Amino acid sequence: MATFEKPKPSDKIPLDLLPVIRSAGVLTDRQFQDVKAKVLSGEYPNDSQELAARLVRDNVLTEYQTKRFLNNKTHGMVVGRYAILDRLGSGSMGRVYKAHHLMMDRVVALKIIAPEIATNERVVARFYREMKLVGRLDHPNVVRAYDADQLNKILYIVMEYVRGRSLAQVFRQSPIAPPDMVNYAAQAALGLAHAHEQGIVHRDVKPSNLLLTDDFKIKVLDLGLGVLMEADDASSFATADGIAVGTVDYMSPEQACGRDVDGRSDLFSLGCSMYHMMTGRLPYPGENPIERLGKRISGRPVPLSEVQPNLPAGLLKIVDKLLAHRPSDRFQTATEASEALLALIRPKTKRVAPPPEREPAPAQSPAVAAPPPVAAPPAVITVRPKYPNWFQPLASFVERKPRGALFAAIGALAIAFTCGFGLALLVR
Ligand SMILES: Nc1ncnc2c1ncn2[C@@H]1O[C@H](COP(=O)(O)OP(=O)(O)OP(=O)(O)O)[C@@H](O)[C@H]1O
Ligand SMILES: [Mg+2]
Repeated sequence: MATFEKPKPSDKIPLDLLPVIRSAGVLTDRQFQDVKAKVLSGEYPNDSQELAARLVRDNVLTEYQTKRFLNNKTHGMVVGRYAILDRLGSGSMGRVYKAHHLMMDRVVALKIIAPEIATNERVVARFYREMKLVGRLDHPNVVRAYDADQLNKILYIVMEYVRGRSLAQVFRQSPIAPPDMVNYAAQAALGLAHAHEQGIVHRDVKPSNLLLTDDFKIKVLDLGLGVLMEADDASSFATADGIAVGTVDYMSPEQACGRDVDGRSDLFSLGCSMYHMMTGRLPYPGENPIERLGKRISGRPVPLSEVQPNLPAGLLKIVDKLLAHRPSDRFQTATEASEALLALIRPKTKRVAPPPEREPAPAQSPAVAAPPPVAAPPAVITVRPKYPNWFQPLASFVERKPRGALFAAIGALAIAFTCGFGLALLVR
């Protein structure tokens, strides 16, 4: 009678998945040998699907990786020394991936620039020049760039991986509350100020390029990539091929006209972003991008005070100034803009007496992190002395009307003196 031997684990090695993993190159040799040994010993399942699930569970591979490998897709899973872990999103300039340096244990974000852009040699040369400057940036409100390279025509930039969401994602759920917006914009302005000081103009400040970390810090993204969007000749951005529709809505008038831009252009874009994210409306509304673009070149924005009249006057003034048509009418530096914004949320001087009429400062929401410290004159805090309860009414009267209290005290003294004098005369 024929007997069937129980197959040994090695007979059932899922040869289909292991070679795929190997050829993708996302594991080091050592990691791969370790996986293989576990399959051979039976510690890991041999069915491809089950093995994939187990490798995800043991953090050897990610879901994104196994999904691709099960479909026999290995191409492009390693870029330079970086193994692709996950896809983070895509924009007008390319795709962004979460990646892992194969040797150093560092998780990064890797942006692969779209081939249409990466094949334009002049744009690429400009990009490299800009990357030299970007490499110097080091600021808590700027996403750090680690590396930029071109491999087999693939142009990529490696940057700090930021756990969080872009403000575009946050705003998609609901408009951003003004106090939060002021805090975020002040932080963005601090990051921009640092970049401007190094001679870098962002050129594409917009909600999707402002990342909000899990602990409510803002990090400006894509610094230095603005040069990739610019047309090759001096023609205006509006006529450049591949224009990003989303970008138009935050662009300064001078940038839309194709003129030279400086940091004040970024401030205009920051103002547009604030306006849009607080109100859900665009400062230059229109049926299509061309109409909206035309309005910003020739017209004025719909005043924020009309769209949201209940905003504090100080905030309306700042947004108006950011959105000034002429750069000379805007804040002249991002530092100035950040200081004006921070002044709105910095705790005001406590006063003993009720303060005179003044601009209501927006309350800071508890979910918002304190704004980053800036050089500012120390706030004067008047400490209220502790009086016994029976003395409180008198004390508060004295504090509110010191002059009246003085006259009352002099009057009381005069009366007491007169009474005492009269009494003395009578007794004599
Ligand atoms: N350094 C990073 N860390 C974490 N996530 C990132 C990082 N860079 C980009 N992302 C994510 O990738 C998504 C796509 O970014 P990308 O910059 O390509 O898109 P975009 O800003 O919408 O378009 P554009 O190409 O015009 O900048 C972003 O929404 C963001 O969530
Ligand atoms: Mg971006």
